[in-house]
Order: sequence, then C-alpha cells, then structure tokens
Amino acid sequence: MALLPSKGVVISVPTLVLSAAAFAILLFFLLSTGSPPSTPCSCSASTGDYSSKVGGEHVSTSAEDIDWLKSRVEANGLHMQQNILRKGINPRTRQQQLQDLLHFKGISHYEGEDANNHTALPCPGELLVEEHHSNYGEPWAGGRDVFEFLAESARLTPNSRVLEIGCGTLRVGLHFIRYLDPERFHCLERDELSLMAALRYELPSQGLLYKRPLIVRGEDMDFSKFGSDTVYDLIYASAVFLHMPDKLVWTGLERLVGRLKPLEGRIFVSHNVKFCSRLRGEECTKRLTDLGLEYKGKHTHDSLLFNHYEIWFEFRRFKA
Ligand SMILES: C[S@@+](CC[C@H](N)C(=O)[O-])C[C@H]1O[C@@H](n2cnc3c(N)ncnc32)[C@H](O)[C@@H]1O
Repeated sequence: MALLPSKGVVISVPTLVLSAAAFAILLFFLLSTGSPPSTPCSCSASTGDYSSKVGGEHVSTSAEDIDWLKSRVEANGLHMQQNILRKGINPRTRQQQLQDLLHFKGISHYEGEDANNHTALPCPGELLVEEHHSNYGEPWAGGRDVFEFLAESARLTPNSRVLEIGCGTLRVGLHFIRYLDPERFHCLERDELSLMAALRYELPSQGLLYKRPLIVRGEDMDFSKFGSDTVYDLIYASAVFLHMPDKLVWTGLERLVGRLKPLEGRIFVSHNVKFCSRLRGEECTKRLTDLGLEYKGKHTHDSLLFNHYEIWFEFRRFKA
C-alpha cells in the first residue's frame, strides 16, 4: 500500500513508519539534551536582547556595541594566537605565577620587615593569581550575563536594594556592587575561602571598597544581620538553591518574603526549583501561596561571550 501526499510523491507505508520513528528519536534527543527541566508551573521562556537600559543607565551590550567591537578586531587584523613566549611577554599558568610569588616574596623590591610596610592590604598569593575565578566550572565572564539579565528583569535603578544568597567570590555580585549606590548590595555566603577572595581580593582590586557592600558569613538562612527593616527590590540565588536541602530553602523563603518589596520586588532562582517541584501534586503552589509568593514564570538568557544559556524562575510577593 502507498500513500499519495498532495505533491504527488509516492511514499510506502514502511518508509513512512521508519521516518516517523527516526523523527521521534531525534525529537527525544533534542528535548532531553537541550530543553530546560520541567517545572510544576506553566512556564514562558524569554531571551534577553542586547539593547535595553535600566533606570536610564546603560546595562546590556547593544547591537551597536557589538558592531563596534567587531570592527575594531577587524581593523587591527586580530586572530586568536597561541600564548607563547614572545617579545616582552612571558606567559605563566596560575600555578607557576603562584610559585613565583612565593619564591620571590611577592615579587617585592622590599626585603625583610620592609616587605609588608608598603602594602596596606597584603593579599594571599592564591587570591592574587585568581585561582577562585575557576571555582564554578562556568567562565568568570558569565557573572556579567547574570547581572544584566537580573538588573533588567527586576527593573533596577542605582538606589535599588539587592540581596544575593550565596554570592561566592562575587562573580555576579561585583557587577551589582559597581552599579548600585553604596550599601545597597547585601549577601549571605557560607564559604570562608570564597569570602576571603571576595573581600581581600575582588573588592579592593576593582576599587569598590567605597561601595561598602554588606557581606555576611552564614549558612542557616539567618538574615538578622541585614537589619530588621531592609526591604529588597531583588533577591536572587544564582546556582545556590540546588546545593541546599529543600527544608533550608523553604526556611529561607519564609524569612525572606517580608523583606521583599510587595508586588514590584522579585525573587529570582536559577537552574531549577526542585525544592518546590519535588513536593507532591499542588503542594508546591499551595506552599508558595501560603507564604504570599506567586510564581511568575520561567526565563532563559544567553551568554554574550560563550555558548550557554541560563534558566531562571521568577517569583513576586503578591500581598502587601
Ligand atoms: C555555584 S556557587 C555560585 C556562586 C555565585 N552565586 C555565582 O553565581 O558566581 C554556590 C555558592 O552558594 C554557596 N552556598 C551554598 N549553600 C549555602 C548556604 N546554605 N548559605 C549560604 N551560601 C551557600 C556556596 O558556598 C557557593 O559560594
């Protein structure tokens, strides 16, 4: 038996069945590798554009910016080259650079007691060679992507207040700190080495100490050190809730609702919301509603510099 499609091409039934099976297998692979995980809620996806401004400030890279950069690379005839010894340039791995630092006492021209007299904030060598920039697998540059997406999604202005749960080494936080007015960025982080990198290397080396971010060490979702009447425009957890026990995430949300600006304020959680979807049936929505939180949707945003997209879940406080 043969089927006759409208264009008059004859297709046999076995061919049709085989084609359908091949298509189903292809579809299965595409869905299982490329698509975001399923969630308990109906989700919409959006991708960031590179042209918007937040609070009148230029945040995202615009199409003009990209054209300008490409023209500069072209005008200078630049192509990626191997990083080998050449005139005036002697590349080292982080490990080699660290050894140099230790061996040559911080490549200091000063000797003995004098060595520390001229350095107001002597920083451990491991931080100076930026080992912590490789802590998350993802390139350090991805922090900028997260900042741009969140700042635009939450419609921030420099006088907004932002809380990050688990800011690590400030891969993302640095961009918020630079953008926001002093004292507007808060963070709760549990890892001591990350906090050392954030405070002793990233803030001073970026000239951002004057922004006085409030960075607190803690792991119990205890926000009492952030002041009792601070209300945030944005609270976010970038690659953090998936590493926490569900119970602790719920405890945190319960404590955070009252600190989120009603209606306009946003909570953004990256990667997945398994702390919620693992609950049975409607329980996830019910627990959120009981807390006064509304799930607003799922978004993705692309990276400017590397082949990657991140998934974000958006919540707001629906009651004053
Ligand atoms: C994958 S890193 C992400 C760091 C940062 N948010 C970023 O995107 O670059 C996860 C961070 O969450 C922190 N973290 C995990 N559990 C935590 C908890 N219970 N309280 C505070 N921070 C926590 C870890 O120490 C780590 O710095």
